[in-house]
Amino acid sequence: MSLASTEAATDTVAAKTTDLRSGSGRVEGLLARFHQVRDFTNSLCTGLEPEDYVVQSMSDVSPTKWHLSHTTWFFETFILKKFSPGYRSEIPQYAYLFNSYYNAAGDMHRRDLRGLISRPTVKEAQRYRASVDSHIDNLISDADEKLLDEIEPLVVLGIHHEQQHQELLVTDIKHVFAQNPLYPVFRGRPRTSDAPKASKDGRYIDFDETTTEIGHDGRGFAYDNEGPRHRALVSAFSLATRPVTNGEFIAFIEDNGYTRPEFWLSLGWMTVNDQRWQAPLYWTKREGAWWNFTLSGFRPVDESESVTHVSYFEADAYANWTGARLPTEFEWERAALDCPIEGNFVEDENFHPLALATSGNDRRLQRMFGDVWEWTRSAYSPYPGYRAAPGALGEYNGKFMCNQYVLRGGSCATSRNHIRPTYRNFFQPEKRWQFTGIRLARDPQ
Ligand SMILES: [Fe+2]
Repeated sequence: MSLASTEAATDTVAAKTTDLRSGSGRVEGLLARFHQVRDFTNSLCTGLEPEDYVVQSMSDVSPTKWHLSHTTWFFETFILKKFSPGYRSEIPQYAYLFNSYYNAAGDMHRRDLRGLISRPTVKEAQRYRASVDSHIDNLISDADEKLLDEIEPLVVLGIHHEQQHQELLVTDIKHVFAQNPLYPVFRGRPRTSDAPKASKDGRYIDFDETTTEIGHDGRGFAYDNEGPRHRALVSAFSLATRPVTNGEFIAFIEDNGYTRPEFWLSLGWMTVNDQRWQAPLYWTKREGAWWNFTLSGFRPVDESESVTHVSYFEADAYANWTGARLPTEFEWERAALDCPIEGNFVEDENFHPLALATSGNDRRLQRMFGDVWEWTRSAYSPYPGYRAAPGALGEYNGKFMCNQYVLRGGSCATSRNHIRPTYRNFFQPEKRWQFTGIRLARDPQ
């Protein structure tokens, strides 16, 4: 999710949906999906105090209260105002405060100043959510087939949009809490020090050269940037069976990887020096050992977990250090098509990568979905024939196709039913606050 702004990634939506059903259960099914996703957002906020909802720790981060309101604005703007006769916003100024980047939907408040907005209060934001939920519920419940045909794709888009913001809510509150010397705990989680350790040497699976279909096949929901589906030649390659672990990344650090320019892209070398990076985001060395801030508090780095909170620059430098490289998004998609969508997702409430198991499963790909987003070496650009849709929703994805890289697979903050093999997330190469990780690829040996 990118984000020309953070949220852009998040808002990569420009979507198309063909997720239409018919039959007597259509209304009930849509209502159930709508309320499930809205309720899950609220449940993620369990345990937060009003003070937590307001902080904006950097320009990429949005306050929790803003996420709650912006996702509500999305349903209000693109559904209620267009399809609910007589609907009037109770507070019209919310349209200015909670529009993110949709120029066609009107002016908007500055993104980097969202943390200065103390009103509406958290309670008022929650009331705004409840009010819009009630109106959407009534609209869907009373809709005839013709109206349902019009609003269902938009409700489904709003649901997927909200899931993107759920992920941002989690990663943003992590960044907020990480600024606090008290290291607040978002969710408690048992220590996993006795977890099985990942096998020392990662293995690779070989793929033959082939011409393959890339992109979404049109069955079910997809964002517009996943199409048009097209044929692509994928040369022979090998893909690592699992993501890079913290232990492996520590070896790169200890080999002075952060201070050896031969591994770094020029822009990456400038960034690592400007920012004085010496390790992934949230890592600190204490008395000779690496610790990291997690949503369960400040903890020793577990060497068998997937490394995360690394930028594209760090991922690329690490790959160069090993003699391998990052996969292209086409290699990744080809390999992922045969993988089940199972893993560590936000519903599992770990809010952190899980330790990788030892050997035994080294003959198949592990963790392609969930756990950490995997950087690819593919620039985020349009597929052949892609055109952004007209209107505000056409701004969801297409306008961010510049200076960003594609990530695949979802993370421990992604919903299980939000991810798919063709899903294209995207971020600028210096971003580190999402759960971003590394899977290596290499050319035929
Ligand atoms: Fe958004």
